[in-house]
Amino acid sequence: MRAAVLRTTGDDKIELVDDVEVTDPGPGEVTIEIAATGVCHSDLSGMTGVIPQPTPAVLGHEGAGVISRVGEGVTSVAEGDHVIVAWSPPCGVCKNCTGRRSPHLCTEIQFGRSLMPRFSQGGNPVFGFAGAGTFVEATTLPAEAAVKIPDDVPFEVASLIGCGVTTGVGAAINTAKVEPGSSVVVFGCGGVGIAAIQGARISGASEIVAVDLQDAKLELARQFGATHGVKPDELDALKAELTGDGFDYAFEAIGLPVTMRAAYDAVRRGGTACIIGVGATDKEVSFNAFELFFAEKNLQGSYYGSADVRSDFGRLIRMWQHGRLDLDGMITRRIGLEDINEALDDMRAGTGIRSVISFAG
Ligand SMILES: NC(=O)c1ccc[n+]([C@@H]2O[C@H](COP(=O)([O-])OP(=O)(O)OC[C@H]3O[C@@H](n4cnc5c(N)ncnc54)[C@H](O)[C@@H]3O)[C@@H](O)[C@H]2O)c1
Ligand SMILES: [Zn+2]
Ligand SMILES: [Zn+2]
Repeated sequence: MRAAVLRTTGDDKIELVDDVEVTDPGPGEVTIEIAATGVCHSDLSGMTGVIPQPTPAVLGHEGAGVISRVGEGVTSVAEGDHVIVAWSPPCGVCKNCTGRRSPHLCTEIQFGRSLMPRFSQGGNPVFGFAGAGTFVEATTLPAEAAVKIPDDVPFEVASLIGCGVTTGVGAAINTAKVEPGSSVVVFGCGGVGIAAIQGARISGASEIVAVDLQDAKLELARQFGATHGVKPDELDALKAELTGDGFDYAFEAIGLPVTMRAAYDAVRRGGTACIIGVGATDKEVSFNAFELFFAEKNLQGSYYGSADVRSDFGRLIRMWQHGRLDLDGMITRRIGLEDINEALDDMRAGTGIRSVISFAG
């Protein structure tokens, strides 16, 4: 089977191989033939070690496809069903899933059942990235990670919902709960940031300021709902002009301590800075000890868009079906698996929103 494998953390290329095997589905598991898979910055972070990942590993975690086999006891999906891969699905039974908490905080599958190697190459185990592994023709996962979708949703569109779109839109509508008429700034206009901009637009924000280093990204951001676009060093002037005392909400969709701090600084007293970007485990962000109390700002992390994938994937599909959410426009490059390293170079350079790999044909 063809796959893109990260041999060792720190490698700057992923290896294209054609001899990876996927495990048979055990009880409660399914095998999914991947039809399309988007390239998310977290894949790059898995390569650099920003996101810890045992290797060798099949990268990719933003995928959609068709159920090809079901293991014993699986009733939620059947052979032939179209599904989106959820890289961190709720188990349904733990404290987070059943208590007065949120199922999106469940990590029983992500850090439990998903950690076992799902693939092999020459008899040696190969892991799947971030509880998934979708840069491959087929993957075997716990059934909870396969969320059924209607057959008429194109796989390319569906794949984006598997990570970037759910993460970005969800940060705005689920985590921060952006209110109509509010002012919003979004740092980083990749797939996740553009999705956050769309989430803010859907929520009825009045001002949506996109911040990026690339002029082309600022232009693109306007197509998705940004009302303004600026480079980081131009933000303070625009903030003063638009809001006076700061934005109601800021979203960080880059993953750098400096922009996380900038997001905190950009919001008004009582405002919310929502951190979506994934920073390295050895990095810290510091805050003025007096201001933490005085400004009463909310510093809020956002994991997978605080989404319940069982209902939110469908909600996002319906928004797309009725023209409320532009997913087609987010696909800036359609490629084959063999082009994966160029797509990663694009991402390093900050060009394009999402590259989507298609296995069809
Ligand atoms: N919270 C979650 O559950 C979750 C899920 C998916 C992805 N993520 C994270 O979200 C982040 C964004 O992912 P993506 O796929 O959109 O990435 P991306 O690489 O496509 O986009 C990042 C954007 O930030 C811009 N940028 C880089 N440095 C900048 C700076 N200093 N100032 C302003 N702009 C800058 C780039 O030009 C690019 O447009 C990553 O950290 C990723 O790991 C988090
Ligand atoms: Zn992702
Ligand atoms: Zn759970």
